[in-house]
Amino acid sequence: MSLPSKVKIVEVGPRDGLQNEKQIVPTATKIELIERLAAAGLRAIEATSFVSPKWVPQMGDNSAVMQGIKRQAGVAYPVLTPNLQGFDAAIEAGATEVAIFAAASETFSRQNINCSIAESLKRFEPILSAASALEIPVRGYVSCVVGCPYEGAVAPEQAAAVANTLHAMGCYEVSLGDTIGVGNPASVSRLIEACARQVPIERLAGHYHDTYGMAVANIYASLQLGLATFDSSLAGLGGCPYAKGASGNVATEDVVYLLHGLGIETGIELATLATIGDWISGALNRPNGAKAGRALCARTE
Ligand code: HMG
Ligand code: MG
Repeated sequence: MSLPSKVKIVEVGPRDGLQNEKQIVPTATKIELIERLAAAGLRAIEATSFVSPKWVPQMGDNSAVMQGIKRQAGVAYPVLTPNLQGFDAAIEAGATEVAIFAAASETFSRQNINCSIAESLKRFEPILSAASALEIPVRGYVSCVVGCPYEGAVAPEQAAAVANTLHAMGCYEVSLGDTIGVGNPASVSRLIEACARQVPIERLAGHYHDTYGMAVANIYASLQLGLATFDSSLAGLGGCPYAKGASGNVATEDVVYLLHGLGIETGIELATLATIGDWISGALNRPNGAKAGRALCARTE
């Protein structure tokens, strides 16, 4: 067994983390969060989403966020775009990378983006051709890759088929979303194996929510299979508004602590990250969901 020597972290806190916050977070706080994450060494930061503000009011300041951030060279700031309308608005606001999001479960697809899986893939075609003309990289997501809040267990082959379609359509990377965090090292390993039979493993990413506390174990299991890109949220922020009861993503601080402990390079300054996690938790008036973050901050108090 050999683990990857380097891992890429895609920080999704400003989008996946904040989209579920009840209180509208000030735009200035979102901008400060993104800028501080870049300064701590994150090289991919999902900044916001260009979805309907009626569906997700928290992301209604998407253009102001994109226009407000001082961008750092070498950092990607992808944004979610569910349709061409969102893609056009994202480009208008200066986005240079986008992400499209499909699901492995029909009911979740309807609840989340109001259409079937097949319709969503059709809707993504014009985004991919517009993006290709503008040389904009497109990331793909598959949600509910292990389980669905409405349909229960999801077969690995079902998730792999959608991942394969997104990859074949032109997504440079496909992120596998355990949206409700029900996976464990056994089910996640079966998922990764099924997906890697169809999509090269270096084009896959793991996006694990931590509802049952299994996310760090799932990352370790995925690393053993050669996966080397993971999505995470600072301080474990977040949850999906259309997946009731799902908690936030695995905390970035916990993932970085794991990776550095394994001797895997991330380029991220962990102590700085812990400080930012503590600051954003305070700003949102919620407990810090990162165990490693809390431990590191307690040591320096
Ligand atoms: P719809 O109602 O079917 O859309 O929503 P429509 O095309 O019929 O249009 C209805 C209205 O929405 C129109 O306005 C459009 O202009 C407007 P009206 O004429 O009524 O005033 N509209 C938009 N406005 C702004 N931006 C847009 C846009 N599109 C239409 N892009 C739609 C369909 C996809 C828009 C809606 O369902 C939606 O916005 N869904 C987003 C839900 C969402 O953001 N979920 C969370 C992100 S996914 C996630 O968290 C999972 C992930 O983390 C991975 C994982 O964990 O598994 C990625
Ligand atoms: Mg998510």
